[in-house]
Amino acid sequence: MHAAIPGPARRVLGIETSCDETAAAVVGSDGRILAEAVFGQEAAHRPFGGVVPEIAARAHVERLDRLIGGVIREAGLAFADLDAVAATAGPGLIGGVVAGLTTAKAVAWAAGKPLLAVNHLEAHALTARLTDGVAFPYLLLLVSGGHCQLLAVEGIGRYRRLGSTIDDAAGEAFDKAAKMLGLGFPGGPALERAAAAGDPVRFPLPRPLRGQPHCNFSFSGLKTALRQRILTLGPDAGEVGTQADLAAAFQAAVADCLADRTRRAARRFRAEWGGACLVAAGGVAANGAVRAALLGVAEDAGLRLVVPPARLCTDNAVMVAWAGVERLARGDADPLDAKARPRWPLDPAAEPLIGRGSSVKV
Ligand code: KG4
Ligand code: ZN
Repeated sequence: MHAAIPGPARRVLGIETSCDETAAAVVGSDGRILAEAVFGQEAAHRPFGGVVPEIAARAHVERLDRLIGGVIREAGLAFADLDAVAATAGPGLIGGVVAGLTTAKAVAWAAGKPLLAVNHLEAHALTARLTDGVAFPYLLLLVSGGHCQLLAVEGIGRYRRLGSTIDDAAGEAFDKAAKMLGLGFPGGPALERAAAAGDPVRFPLPRPLRGQPHCNFSFSGLKTALRQRILTLGPDAGEVGTQADLAAAFQAAVADCLADRTRRAARRFRAEWGGACLVAAGGVAANGAVRAALLGVAEDAGLRLVVPPARLCTDNAVMVAWAGVERLARGDADPLDAKARPRWPLDPAAEPLIGRGSSVKV
């Protein structure tokens, strides 16, 4: 089941370049994905063990033209057939965002079509409306490499943050844990693969902030606990079975923390907003253990869990095109001098918590 936007049929080109995926897609207002392409840059960043912003920006510039040409052809369209061009305008690595947004402006100007400068986080947030037709309001757990937040989604452009990480994002924690375990880059999927053969209870790890009377997250203490374990084990930590057990322990701890904080938010959401769905979005929502933990939370709270398919949870341009479809239907358009924004919170009224430590109350 997917959403359809009432009104005239429209087709929107989406462009995503905020991190290390170069992506383009064409999506219709009937919810059909007419074409999609993602070019992952993992190989270029792997030697450095993480995403190098300058390399990412350059790789986007080198790929984007061909990728866009490819999806337009695959959709059987010409630029003139598009109704709008949507691109991620932030938040993200600024060089990459500028590369994608400038390309979108050029296409929009040359084809005489409206531009939509899309918030990358809003694109993640709205994906479940494309895949499952979820109605507002819904509770959103946004868990990616750069973000870890719980939000009440009230409508397009209307978000209330219920909780946020006070240090690392969950995806960042997965990436760093994988690096410590020598599992390579990108870390999240590698750690999940290693954990599949592991025993999650052999090495007990802490669950930071579990049971606290707010909905915030913290992962830095968990990372430190894993590092201590690895140091104590010495060379044994590299043994395949032990590595798998450590990966499984870390994954279970992250899944527990996400579930505990989401459980608290779900109670508040049911009481104050009364919506019917819990949606997970962002790269970490692709993790099987996280999905399983969230299913338990949703069942207990009487909410329907919606998690888009993995390829639409990690960065992609389908979600950007769809956010464009939704905004176009409201009559939105952005000027050709729309700014690229390294920071762009969904709930600007909520104060930033990163680096504020556990004294923070919400
Ligand atoms: O949403 P996304 O593709 O990019 C950002 O906007 O950050 O999320 C990427 C993050 C990375 O930290 C990656 O390690 C994590 O999502 N990730 C996973 C899995 N797949 C991607 N983490 C755990 N398990 C996975 N299967
Ligand atoms: Zn993302």
